[in-house]
Order: sequence, then structure tokens, then C-alpha cells
Amino acid sequence: MIPVLELSRVRAGYGSIDVLHGVDLSIHAGEVVALLGPNGAGKTTTLAVASGQIRPSSGSISLMGHTVNGVRPDRLARSGVCLVPEGRGIFANLTVRENLLMSSYAGVSIEQIEARTYELFPRLGERRSQTAGTLSGGEQQMLALSRALTTDPAILLLDELSMGLAPLVVSDLYHRVGELASDGLSILIVEQFAQAVLGVADRAAVMVNGEIRSIGEPEEISDALAEAYLGG
Ligand SMILES: Nc1ncnc2c1ncn2[C@@H]1O[C@H](COP(=O)(O)OP(=O)(O)OP(=O)(O)O)[C@@H](O)[C@H]1O
Ligand SMILES: [Mg+2]
Repeated sequence: MIPVLELSRVRAGYGSIDVLHGVDLSIHAGEVVALLGPNGAGKTTTLAVASGQIRPSSGSISLMGHTVNGVRPDRLARSGVCLVPEGRGIFANLTVRENLLMSSYAGVSIEQIEARTYELFPRLGERRSQTAGTLSGGEQQMLALSRALTTDPAILLLDELSMGLAPLVVSDLYHRVGELASDGLSILIVEQFAQAVLGVADRAAVMVNGEIRSIGEPEEISDALAEAYLGG
């Protein structure tokens, strides 16, 4: 089966500084893959490459079997690659409803988008007229995720969804993420702290210093994960 998204031997960085040193990673349809690792490992950079914000200096990125090196982020987004960036990416001064409206594409009505969003996250329905900046952290993450879903993505790239949230909120969010994957969405989740995401991940990869040290089912990578955080 052709992966929805595949990075092969990707090297990339900022200016002359290389951050990723030959990363191989693939995500299949309906699969949840967790990319874990300590601060500065290159996780966000991997998502930047996958979403077209950074062009790899070598190696390749393919989407449904087609090479997309150098394709611009807006075009990749229209092809179904959707990034939910670290720190949420919502418009703080707009209401929940306006935020959903902003990200809607031609052909889908705001009514449809709202219905789908509020079914997934009833709390957002109750708060549809509230400005996004005054939502709780968890509600803001729900909104960021909902905005991403309005584009009907093929693959969702989530960066530190759990940042600043209570463990219970995180496990609820990841439970919803798991449901999206069982509907066929492919999801790559970046997290620094692993526990929350391992429950929904089909596979997990441990990244250290711009290299994938270990990849496999969550239980198979636990040693590598412990080593990564202990600075081994
Ligand atoms: N815009 C940039 N310019 C220069 N260096 C950068 C830039 N963004 C990131 N880096 C460097 O690249 C390396 C990898 O950063 P990256 O953000 O990918 O790490 P990360 O794994 O997401 O870490 P964290 O868990 O802290 O978010 C770090 O050393 C970082 O300082
Ligand atoms: Mg990061």
C-alpha cells in the first residue's frame, strides 16, 4: 500500500545548519503515528518539511506516491496536508464561529462545518459566540483541531497538541483524534511527552538530534524512548 505521506532520507535545516540528518518516516491511510523526542530534536522541523514550509536539502517527500519536494505550503494544503502548529494558530480576536468561517473552503457551507464541529466538540457549540482568545487552553486546542478538519485533510500534522493542558483534557483530545483516524484520516502527532499519545498511536518514532533512533509499535520503542529522555 502506498503511504499517504512519506519522507525518505530527508535532510533539512535552517540556512547552513542541518537539523534533520536523513529522516525516513511514512504514514499510511487511517494510521496514527507519533513522533516523539526531547526539545530541539527536530520534530517541528520535520512537520515544517512535511507541510512544505522548509524544502529539504536532499531526500524526498511524497504524497500519495507523488514527489512533492518544493511544492508550496498553500498548494500542499489544498492537496490535503494540514498542519496544526505548535501554539494553536487560531485568531484570538474572532469568535469560535468566525474562526471556523475563516478556514472554510468553497463548496462547504458554514452550517455544515458548524454542525460537524459541535458534534465532535459540544463545548465549542456552547461557546460559538465567544472570542477565541478567551477560551480555555483545551477549548482553544479543540478549535485549532476543528479548523484543521474544515479543510477535509488527507493527513493531519499535529504539533504538541497537549502543550499546557491538564492530563484529562489531553486524553480526551487524543481520544477524539483516535476516532478521526478510525474514520480513515491519517495523523502524524508530534509530542515531547509521550504517555498521552501512545494510547492512540499505531506506531511511534523516537527522534534524537535530527535522526529517528527507533520506530515501531508503542511498546517496541519504550527502551529507546527512556534512553532519549535520560540523555543516553
Ligand atoms: N527558524 C530557525 N532558525 C534556526 N534554527 C532553528 C529554527 N527553528 C528551529 N531551529 C533549530 O533546529 C533544531 C530543531 O528544532 P525543532 O523546533 O525542530 O525541535 P523540536 O523537536 O520541535 O523541539 P521542541 O520539543 O522543543 O518543540 C533546534 O536546535 C532549533 O534551535
Ligand atoms: Mg517543536
